[in-house]
Amino acid sequence: MVDKNNSVVVVGSGLMGTGIAHAFASSGYATVLVDTNAEALAKARKNIEDILDSGVKLGKLEAADAAAAKARLTTSTALADVPASASLLVETVSENLAVKQAVLKQAAELLGGDAILATNTSALSVTEIASVVSNPQRVIGMHFFNPVHKMKLVELVLAIATDEQTVATSRAWCDAINKISILVNESPGLTTSRMSAMLGNEAMWMLQEGTASAEDIDTALRMGFNHPMGPLELGDLTGWDTRLAVLKYLHSTLGEKFRPCPLIIKMVAAGRLGRKVGHGVYQYDDSGKRVPGSGLKGSNL
Ligand SMILES: NC(=O)c1ccc[n+]([C@@H]2O[C@H](COP(=O)([O-])OP(=O)(O)OC[C@H]3O[C@@H](n4cnc5c(N)ncnc54)[C@H](O)[C@@H]3O)[C@@H](O)[C@H]2O)c1
Repeated sequence: MVDKNNSVVVVGSGLMGTGIAHAFASSGYATVLVDTNAEALAKARKNIEDILDSGVKLGKLEAADAAAAKARLTTSTALADVPASASLLVETVSENLAVKQAVLKQAAELLGGDAILATNTSALSVTEIASVVSNPQRVIGMHFFNPVHKMKLVELVLAIATDEQTVATSRAWCDAINKISILVNESPGLTTSRMSAMLGNEAMWMLQEGTASAEDIDTALRMGFNHPMGPLELGDLTGWDTRLAVLKYLHSTLGEKFRPCPLIIKMVAAGRLGRKVGHGVYQYDDSGKRVPGSGLKGSNL
């Protein structure tokens, strides 16, 4: 049980930071969401408010609780301004080692020595991210899943220096926001990203080769294996830029079987990053709804 007096800082207000900040604020913790990009922050706040409002509309949340969660959330464009008393910081900035190291280094200097510093990296080494922090025993991977408000799992990633206290407190934080945590010793791609990257890459190879249409590849996994989503719709949700960064890393650490499919490289070069820009393997209308029949066909590549 984590006392409700504890407060949280979430750094990075993109797709994941939005969901993570919502999880803590709606579970009763004062939460500061930080991003260097003011527009991204404003968008994140609106998205969090929309999630809370739809919870009220669906009868899952009392209006007063939604209002309280909104009031618990504050935003800032400067990490230097966050309260030094925060007991947990989750960084979820872009998947770039140098950027993440800079954030954690600054956070370690700002926050008290007992504060946990967590990284939501998909595939970078938590040990390497923690190497710039003077007391790396309090650094841990806290790998959330998208969309955070629907996905129950958090992979807690143990770096070389992560101590037992940090693991125990991190598990308590996951319980406090109603997530199921598993422990994973640091290894490239952990459990889920490694399997998901392989599946998504293979689906793109099949699309590139014209084996089947995007819709049919996704239907195969949904109907044949009971996956809630196909690998291509999942890639659109994750973002192909994030996917490509993960695959490049797994290719460099685990070898040839993770070589990124050229179609992913081409899509990222074209800016077809997925749902977040309204266009990926599928197209999406202004309300975010998938345009029927818009999936890439093997024959048109
Ligand atoms: N997208 C997913 O499904 C998913 C799932 C699990 C983990 N992750 C990981 O979460 C992290 C974020 O992914 P995302 O999809 O939310 O990315 P995103 O591109 O949507 O958001 C990243 C945000 O970080 C901000 N940022 C960059 N540098 C910053 C800095 N120095 N200080 C403050 N803010 C900064 C950017 O302005 C942007 O708003 C990545 O490490 C990614 O690998 C992503």
